[in-house]
Amino acid sequence: MVTSSSACGKAILLGEHAVVYGQPALAVPLPDLSAYAKVEPLPTGSGIVIEASDLGRSVTYPALNLDNQDLFARGLQTTIGNALAALQLDEVPPLSIKLHSQLPPARGLGSGTAVTIAIIRALARFTDVLLAPEVISELAYRTEILYHGHPSGIDNTVIAYERPIYYQRGKMLSLLEHIPAFTLLIADSGIASQTRGAVEQVRRAWQAQPTRCEALFERIGRLTAAGRVALEAGDWPELGALMNADQCLLAELGVSSPEIERLNAAALQAGALGAKLSGGGQGGCIIALVDAATTETTAQALRTANARQVWKVDVHDADWD
Ligand code: MEV
Repeated sequence: MVTSSSACGKAILLGEHAVVYGQPALAVPLPDLSAYAKVEPLPTGSGIVIEASDLGRSVTYPALNLDNQDLFARGLQTTIGNALAALQLDEVPPLSIKLHSQLPPARGLGSGTAVTIAIIRALARFTDVLLAPEVISELAYRTEILYHGHPSGIDNTVIAYERPIYYQRGKMLSLLEHIPAFTLLIADSGIASQTRGAVEQVRRAWQAQPTRCEALFERIGRLTAAGRVALEAGDWPELGALMNADQCLLAELGVSSPEIERLNAAALQAGALGAKLSGGGQGGCIIALVDAATTETTAQALRTANARQVWKVDVHDADWD
């Protein structure tokens, strides 16, 4: 019997980086961009063979010799080990797991987290166990620590719950409902965004200049709180303005890049209501908030500004009702 599961990508509308320091952040799931895991029993053996054909990688669990630098393989070992324990499987079943992702890796869209959660869901479905979103999120968080060092937990939360969230560490999670529909353009700068490196750089800046950085985090937190109100009210000009303000603060934190600035400027000149990096930054993707009148011109402007790829994402309640 073959079982398949998926997990979506994510975009952070407001609040990345500051969320690591206890400020709130707003994130939405991207169901049109997902990762998939297909689990199939193997006739013999006692290990799990994971194939990621998109990356040309094949990894076995449990691995005998693990290269410490190979985060992909270490992430898979952590994910599968924790999932098997949560599913109370004492013996490793002989399985094949085939991975496929529509999400470009290292672009701030949650590709690694989506793969992790797709695997956890596929193993749970294979063993006929229902895992609650908070359990899936917690399991994925353990892999996030390995990938990102000091993750806030926002990526595993929004992807495990597959709902727009207002997230603040240590506070009760707010799942946002009845949000009016809106459209994002996501444009890939073509430059890899290493969340771990960006988070570490911000940490070094904070250690060197705590007062300056904490003031920036607090300003980001305030505009994120205002962004939640704008999002729930469908006040898109206000949300766009807050995204632009957030982008300026993220640039002050040192996580923007010339490519991101170029794509943001192209989107805004073409009429987007707001544009900013999303995720770790220093590369990766930008998100632009657009209305019906400016979607096509903005998408064209982003392509002309050398975006590697542009996705139009309609965010609406029907996706998660
Ligand atoms: C990564 O998607 C978002 C960051 O804020 C890191 C984190 O929250 O763990 C940059």
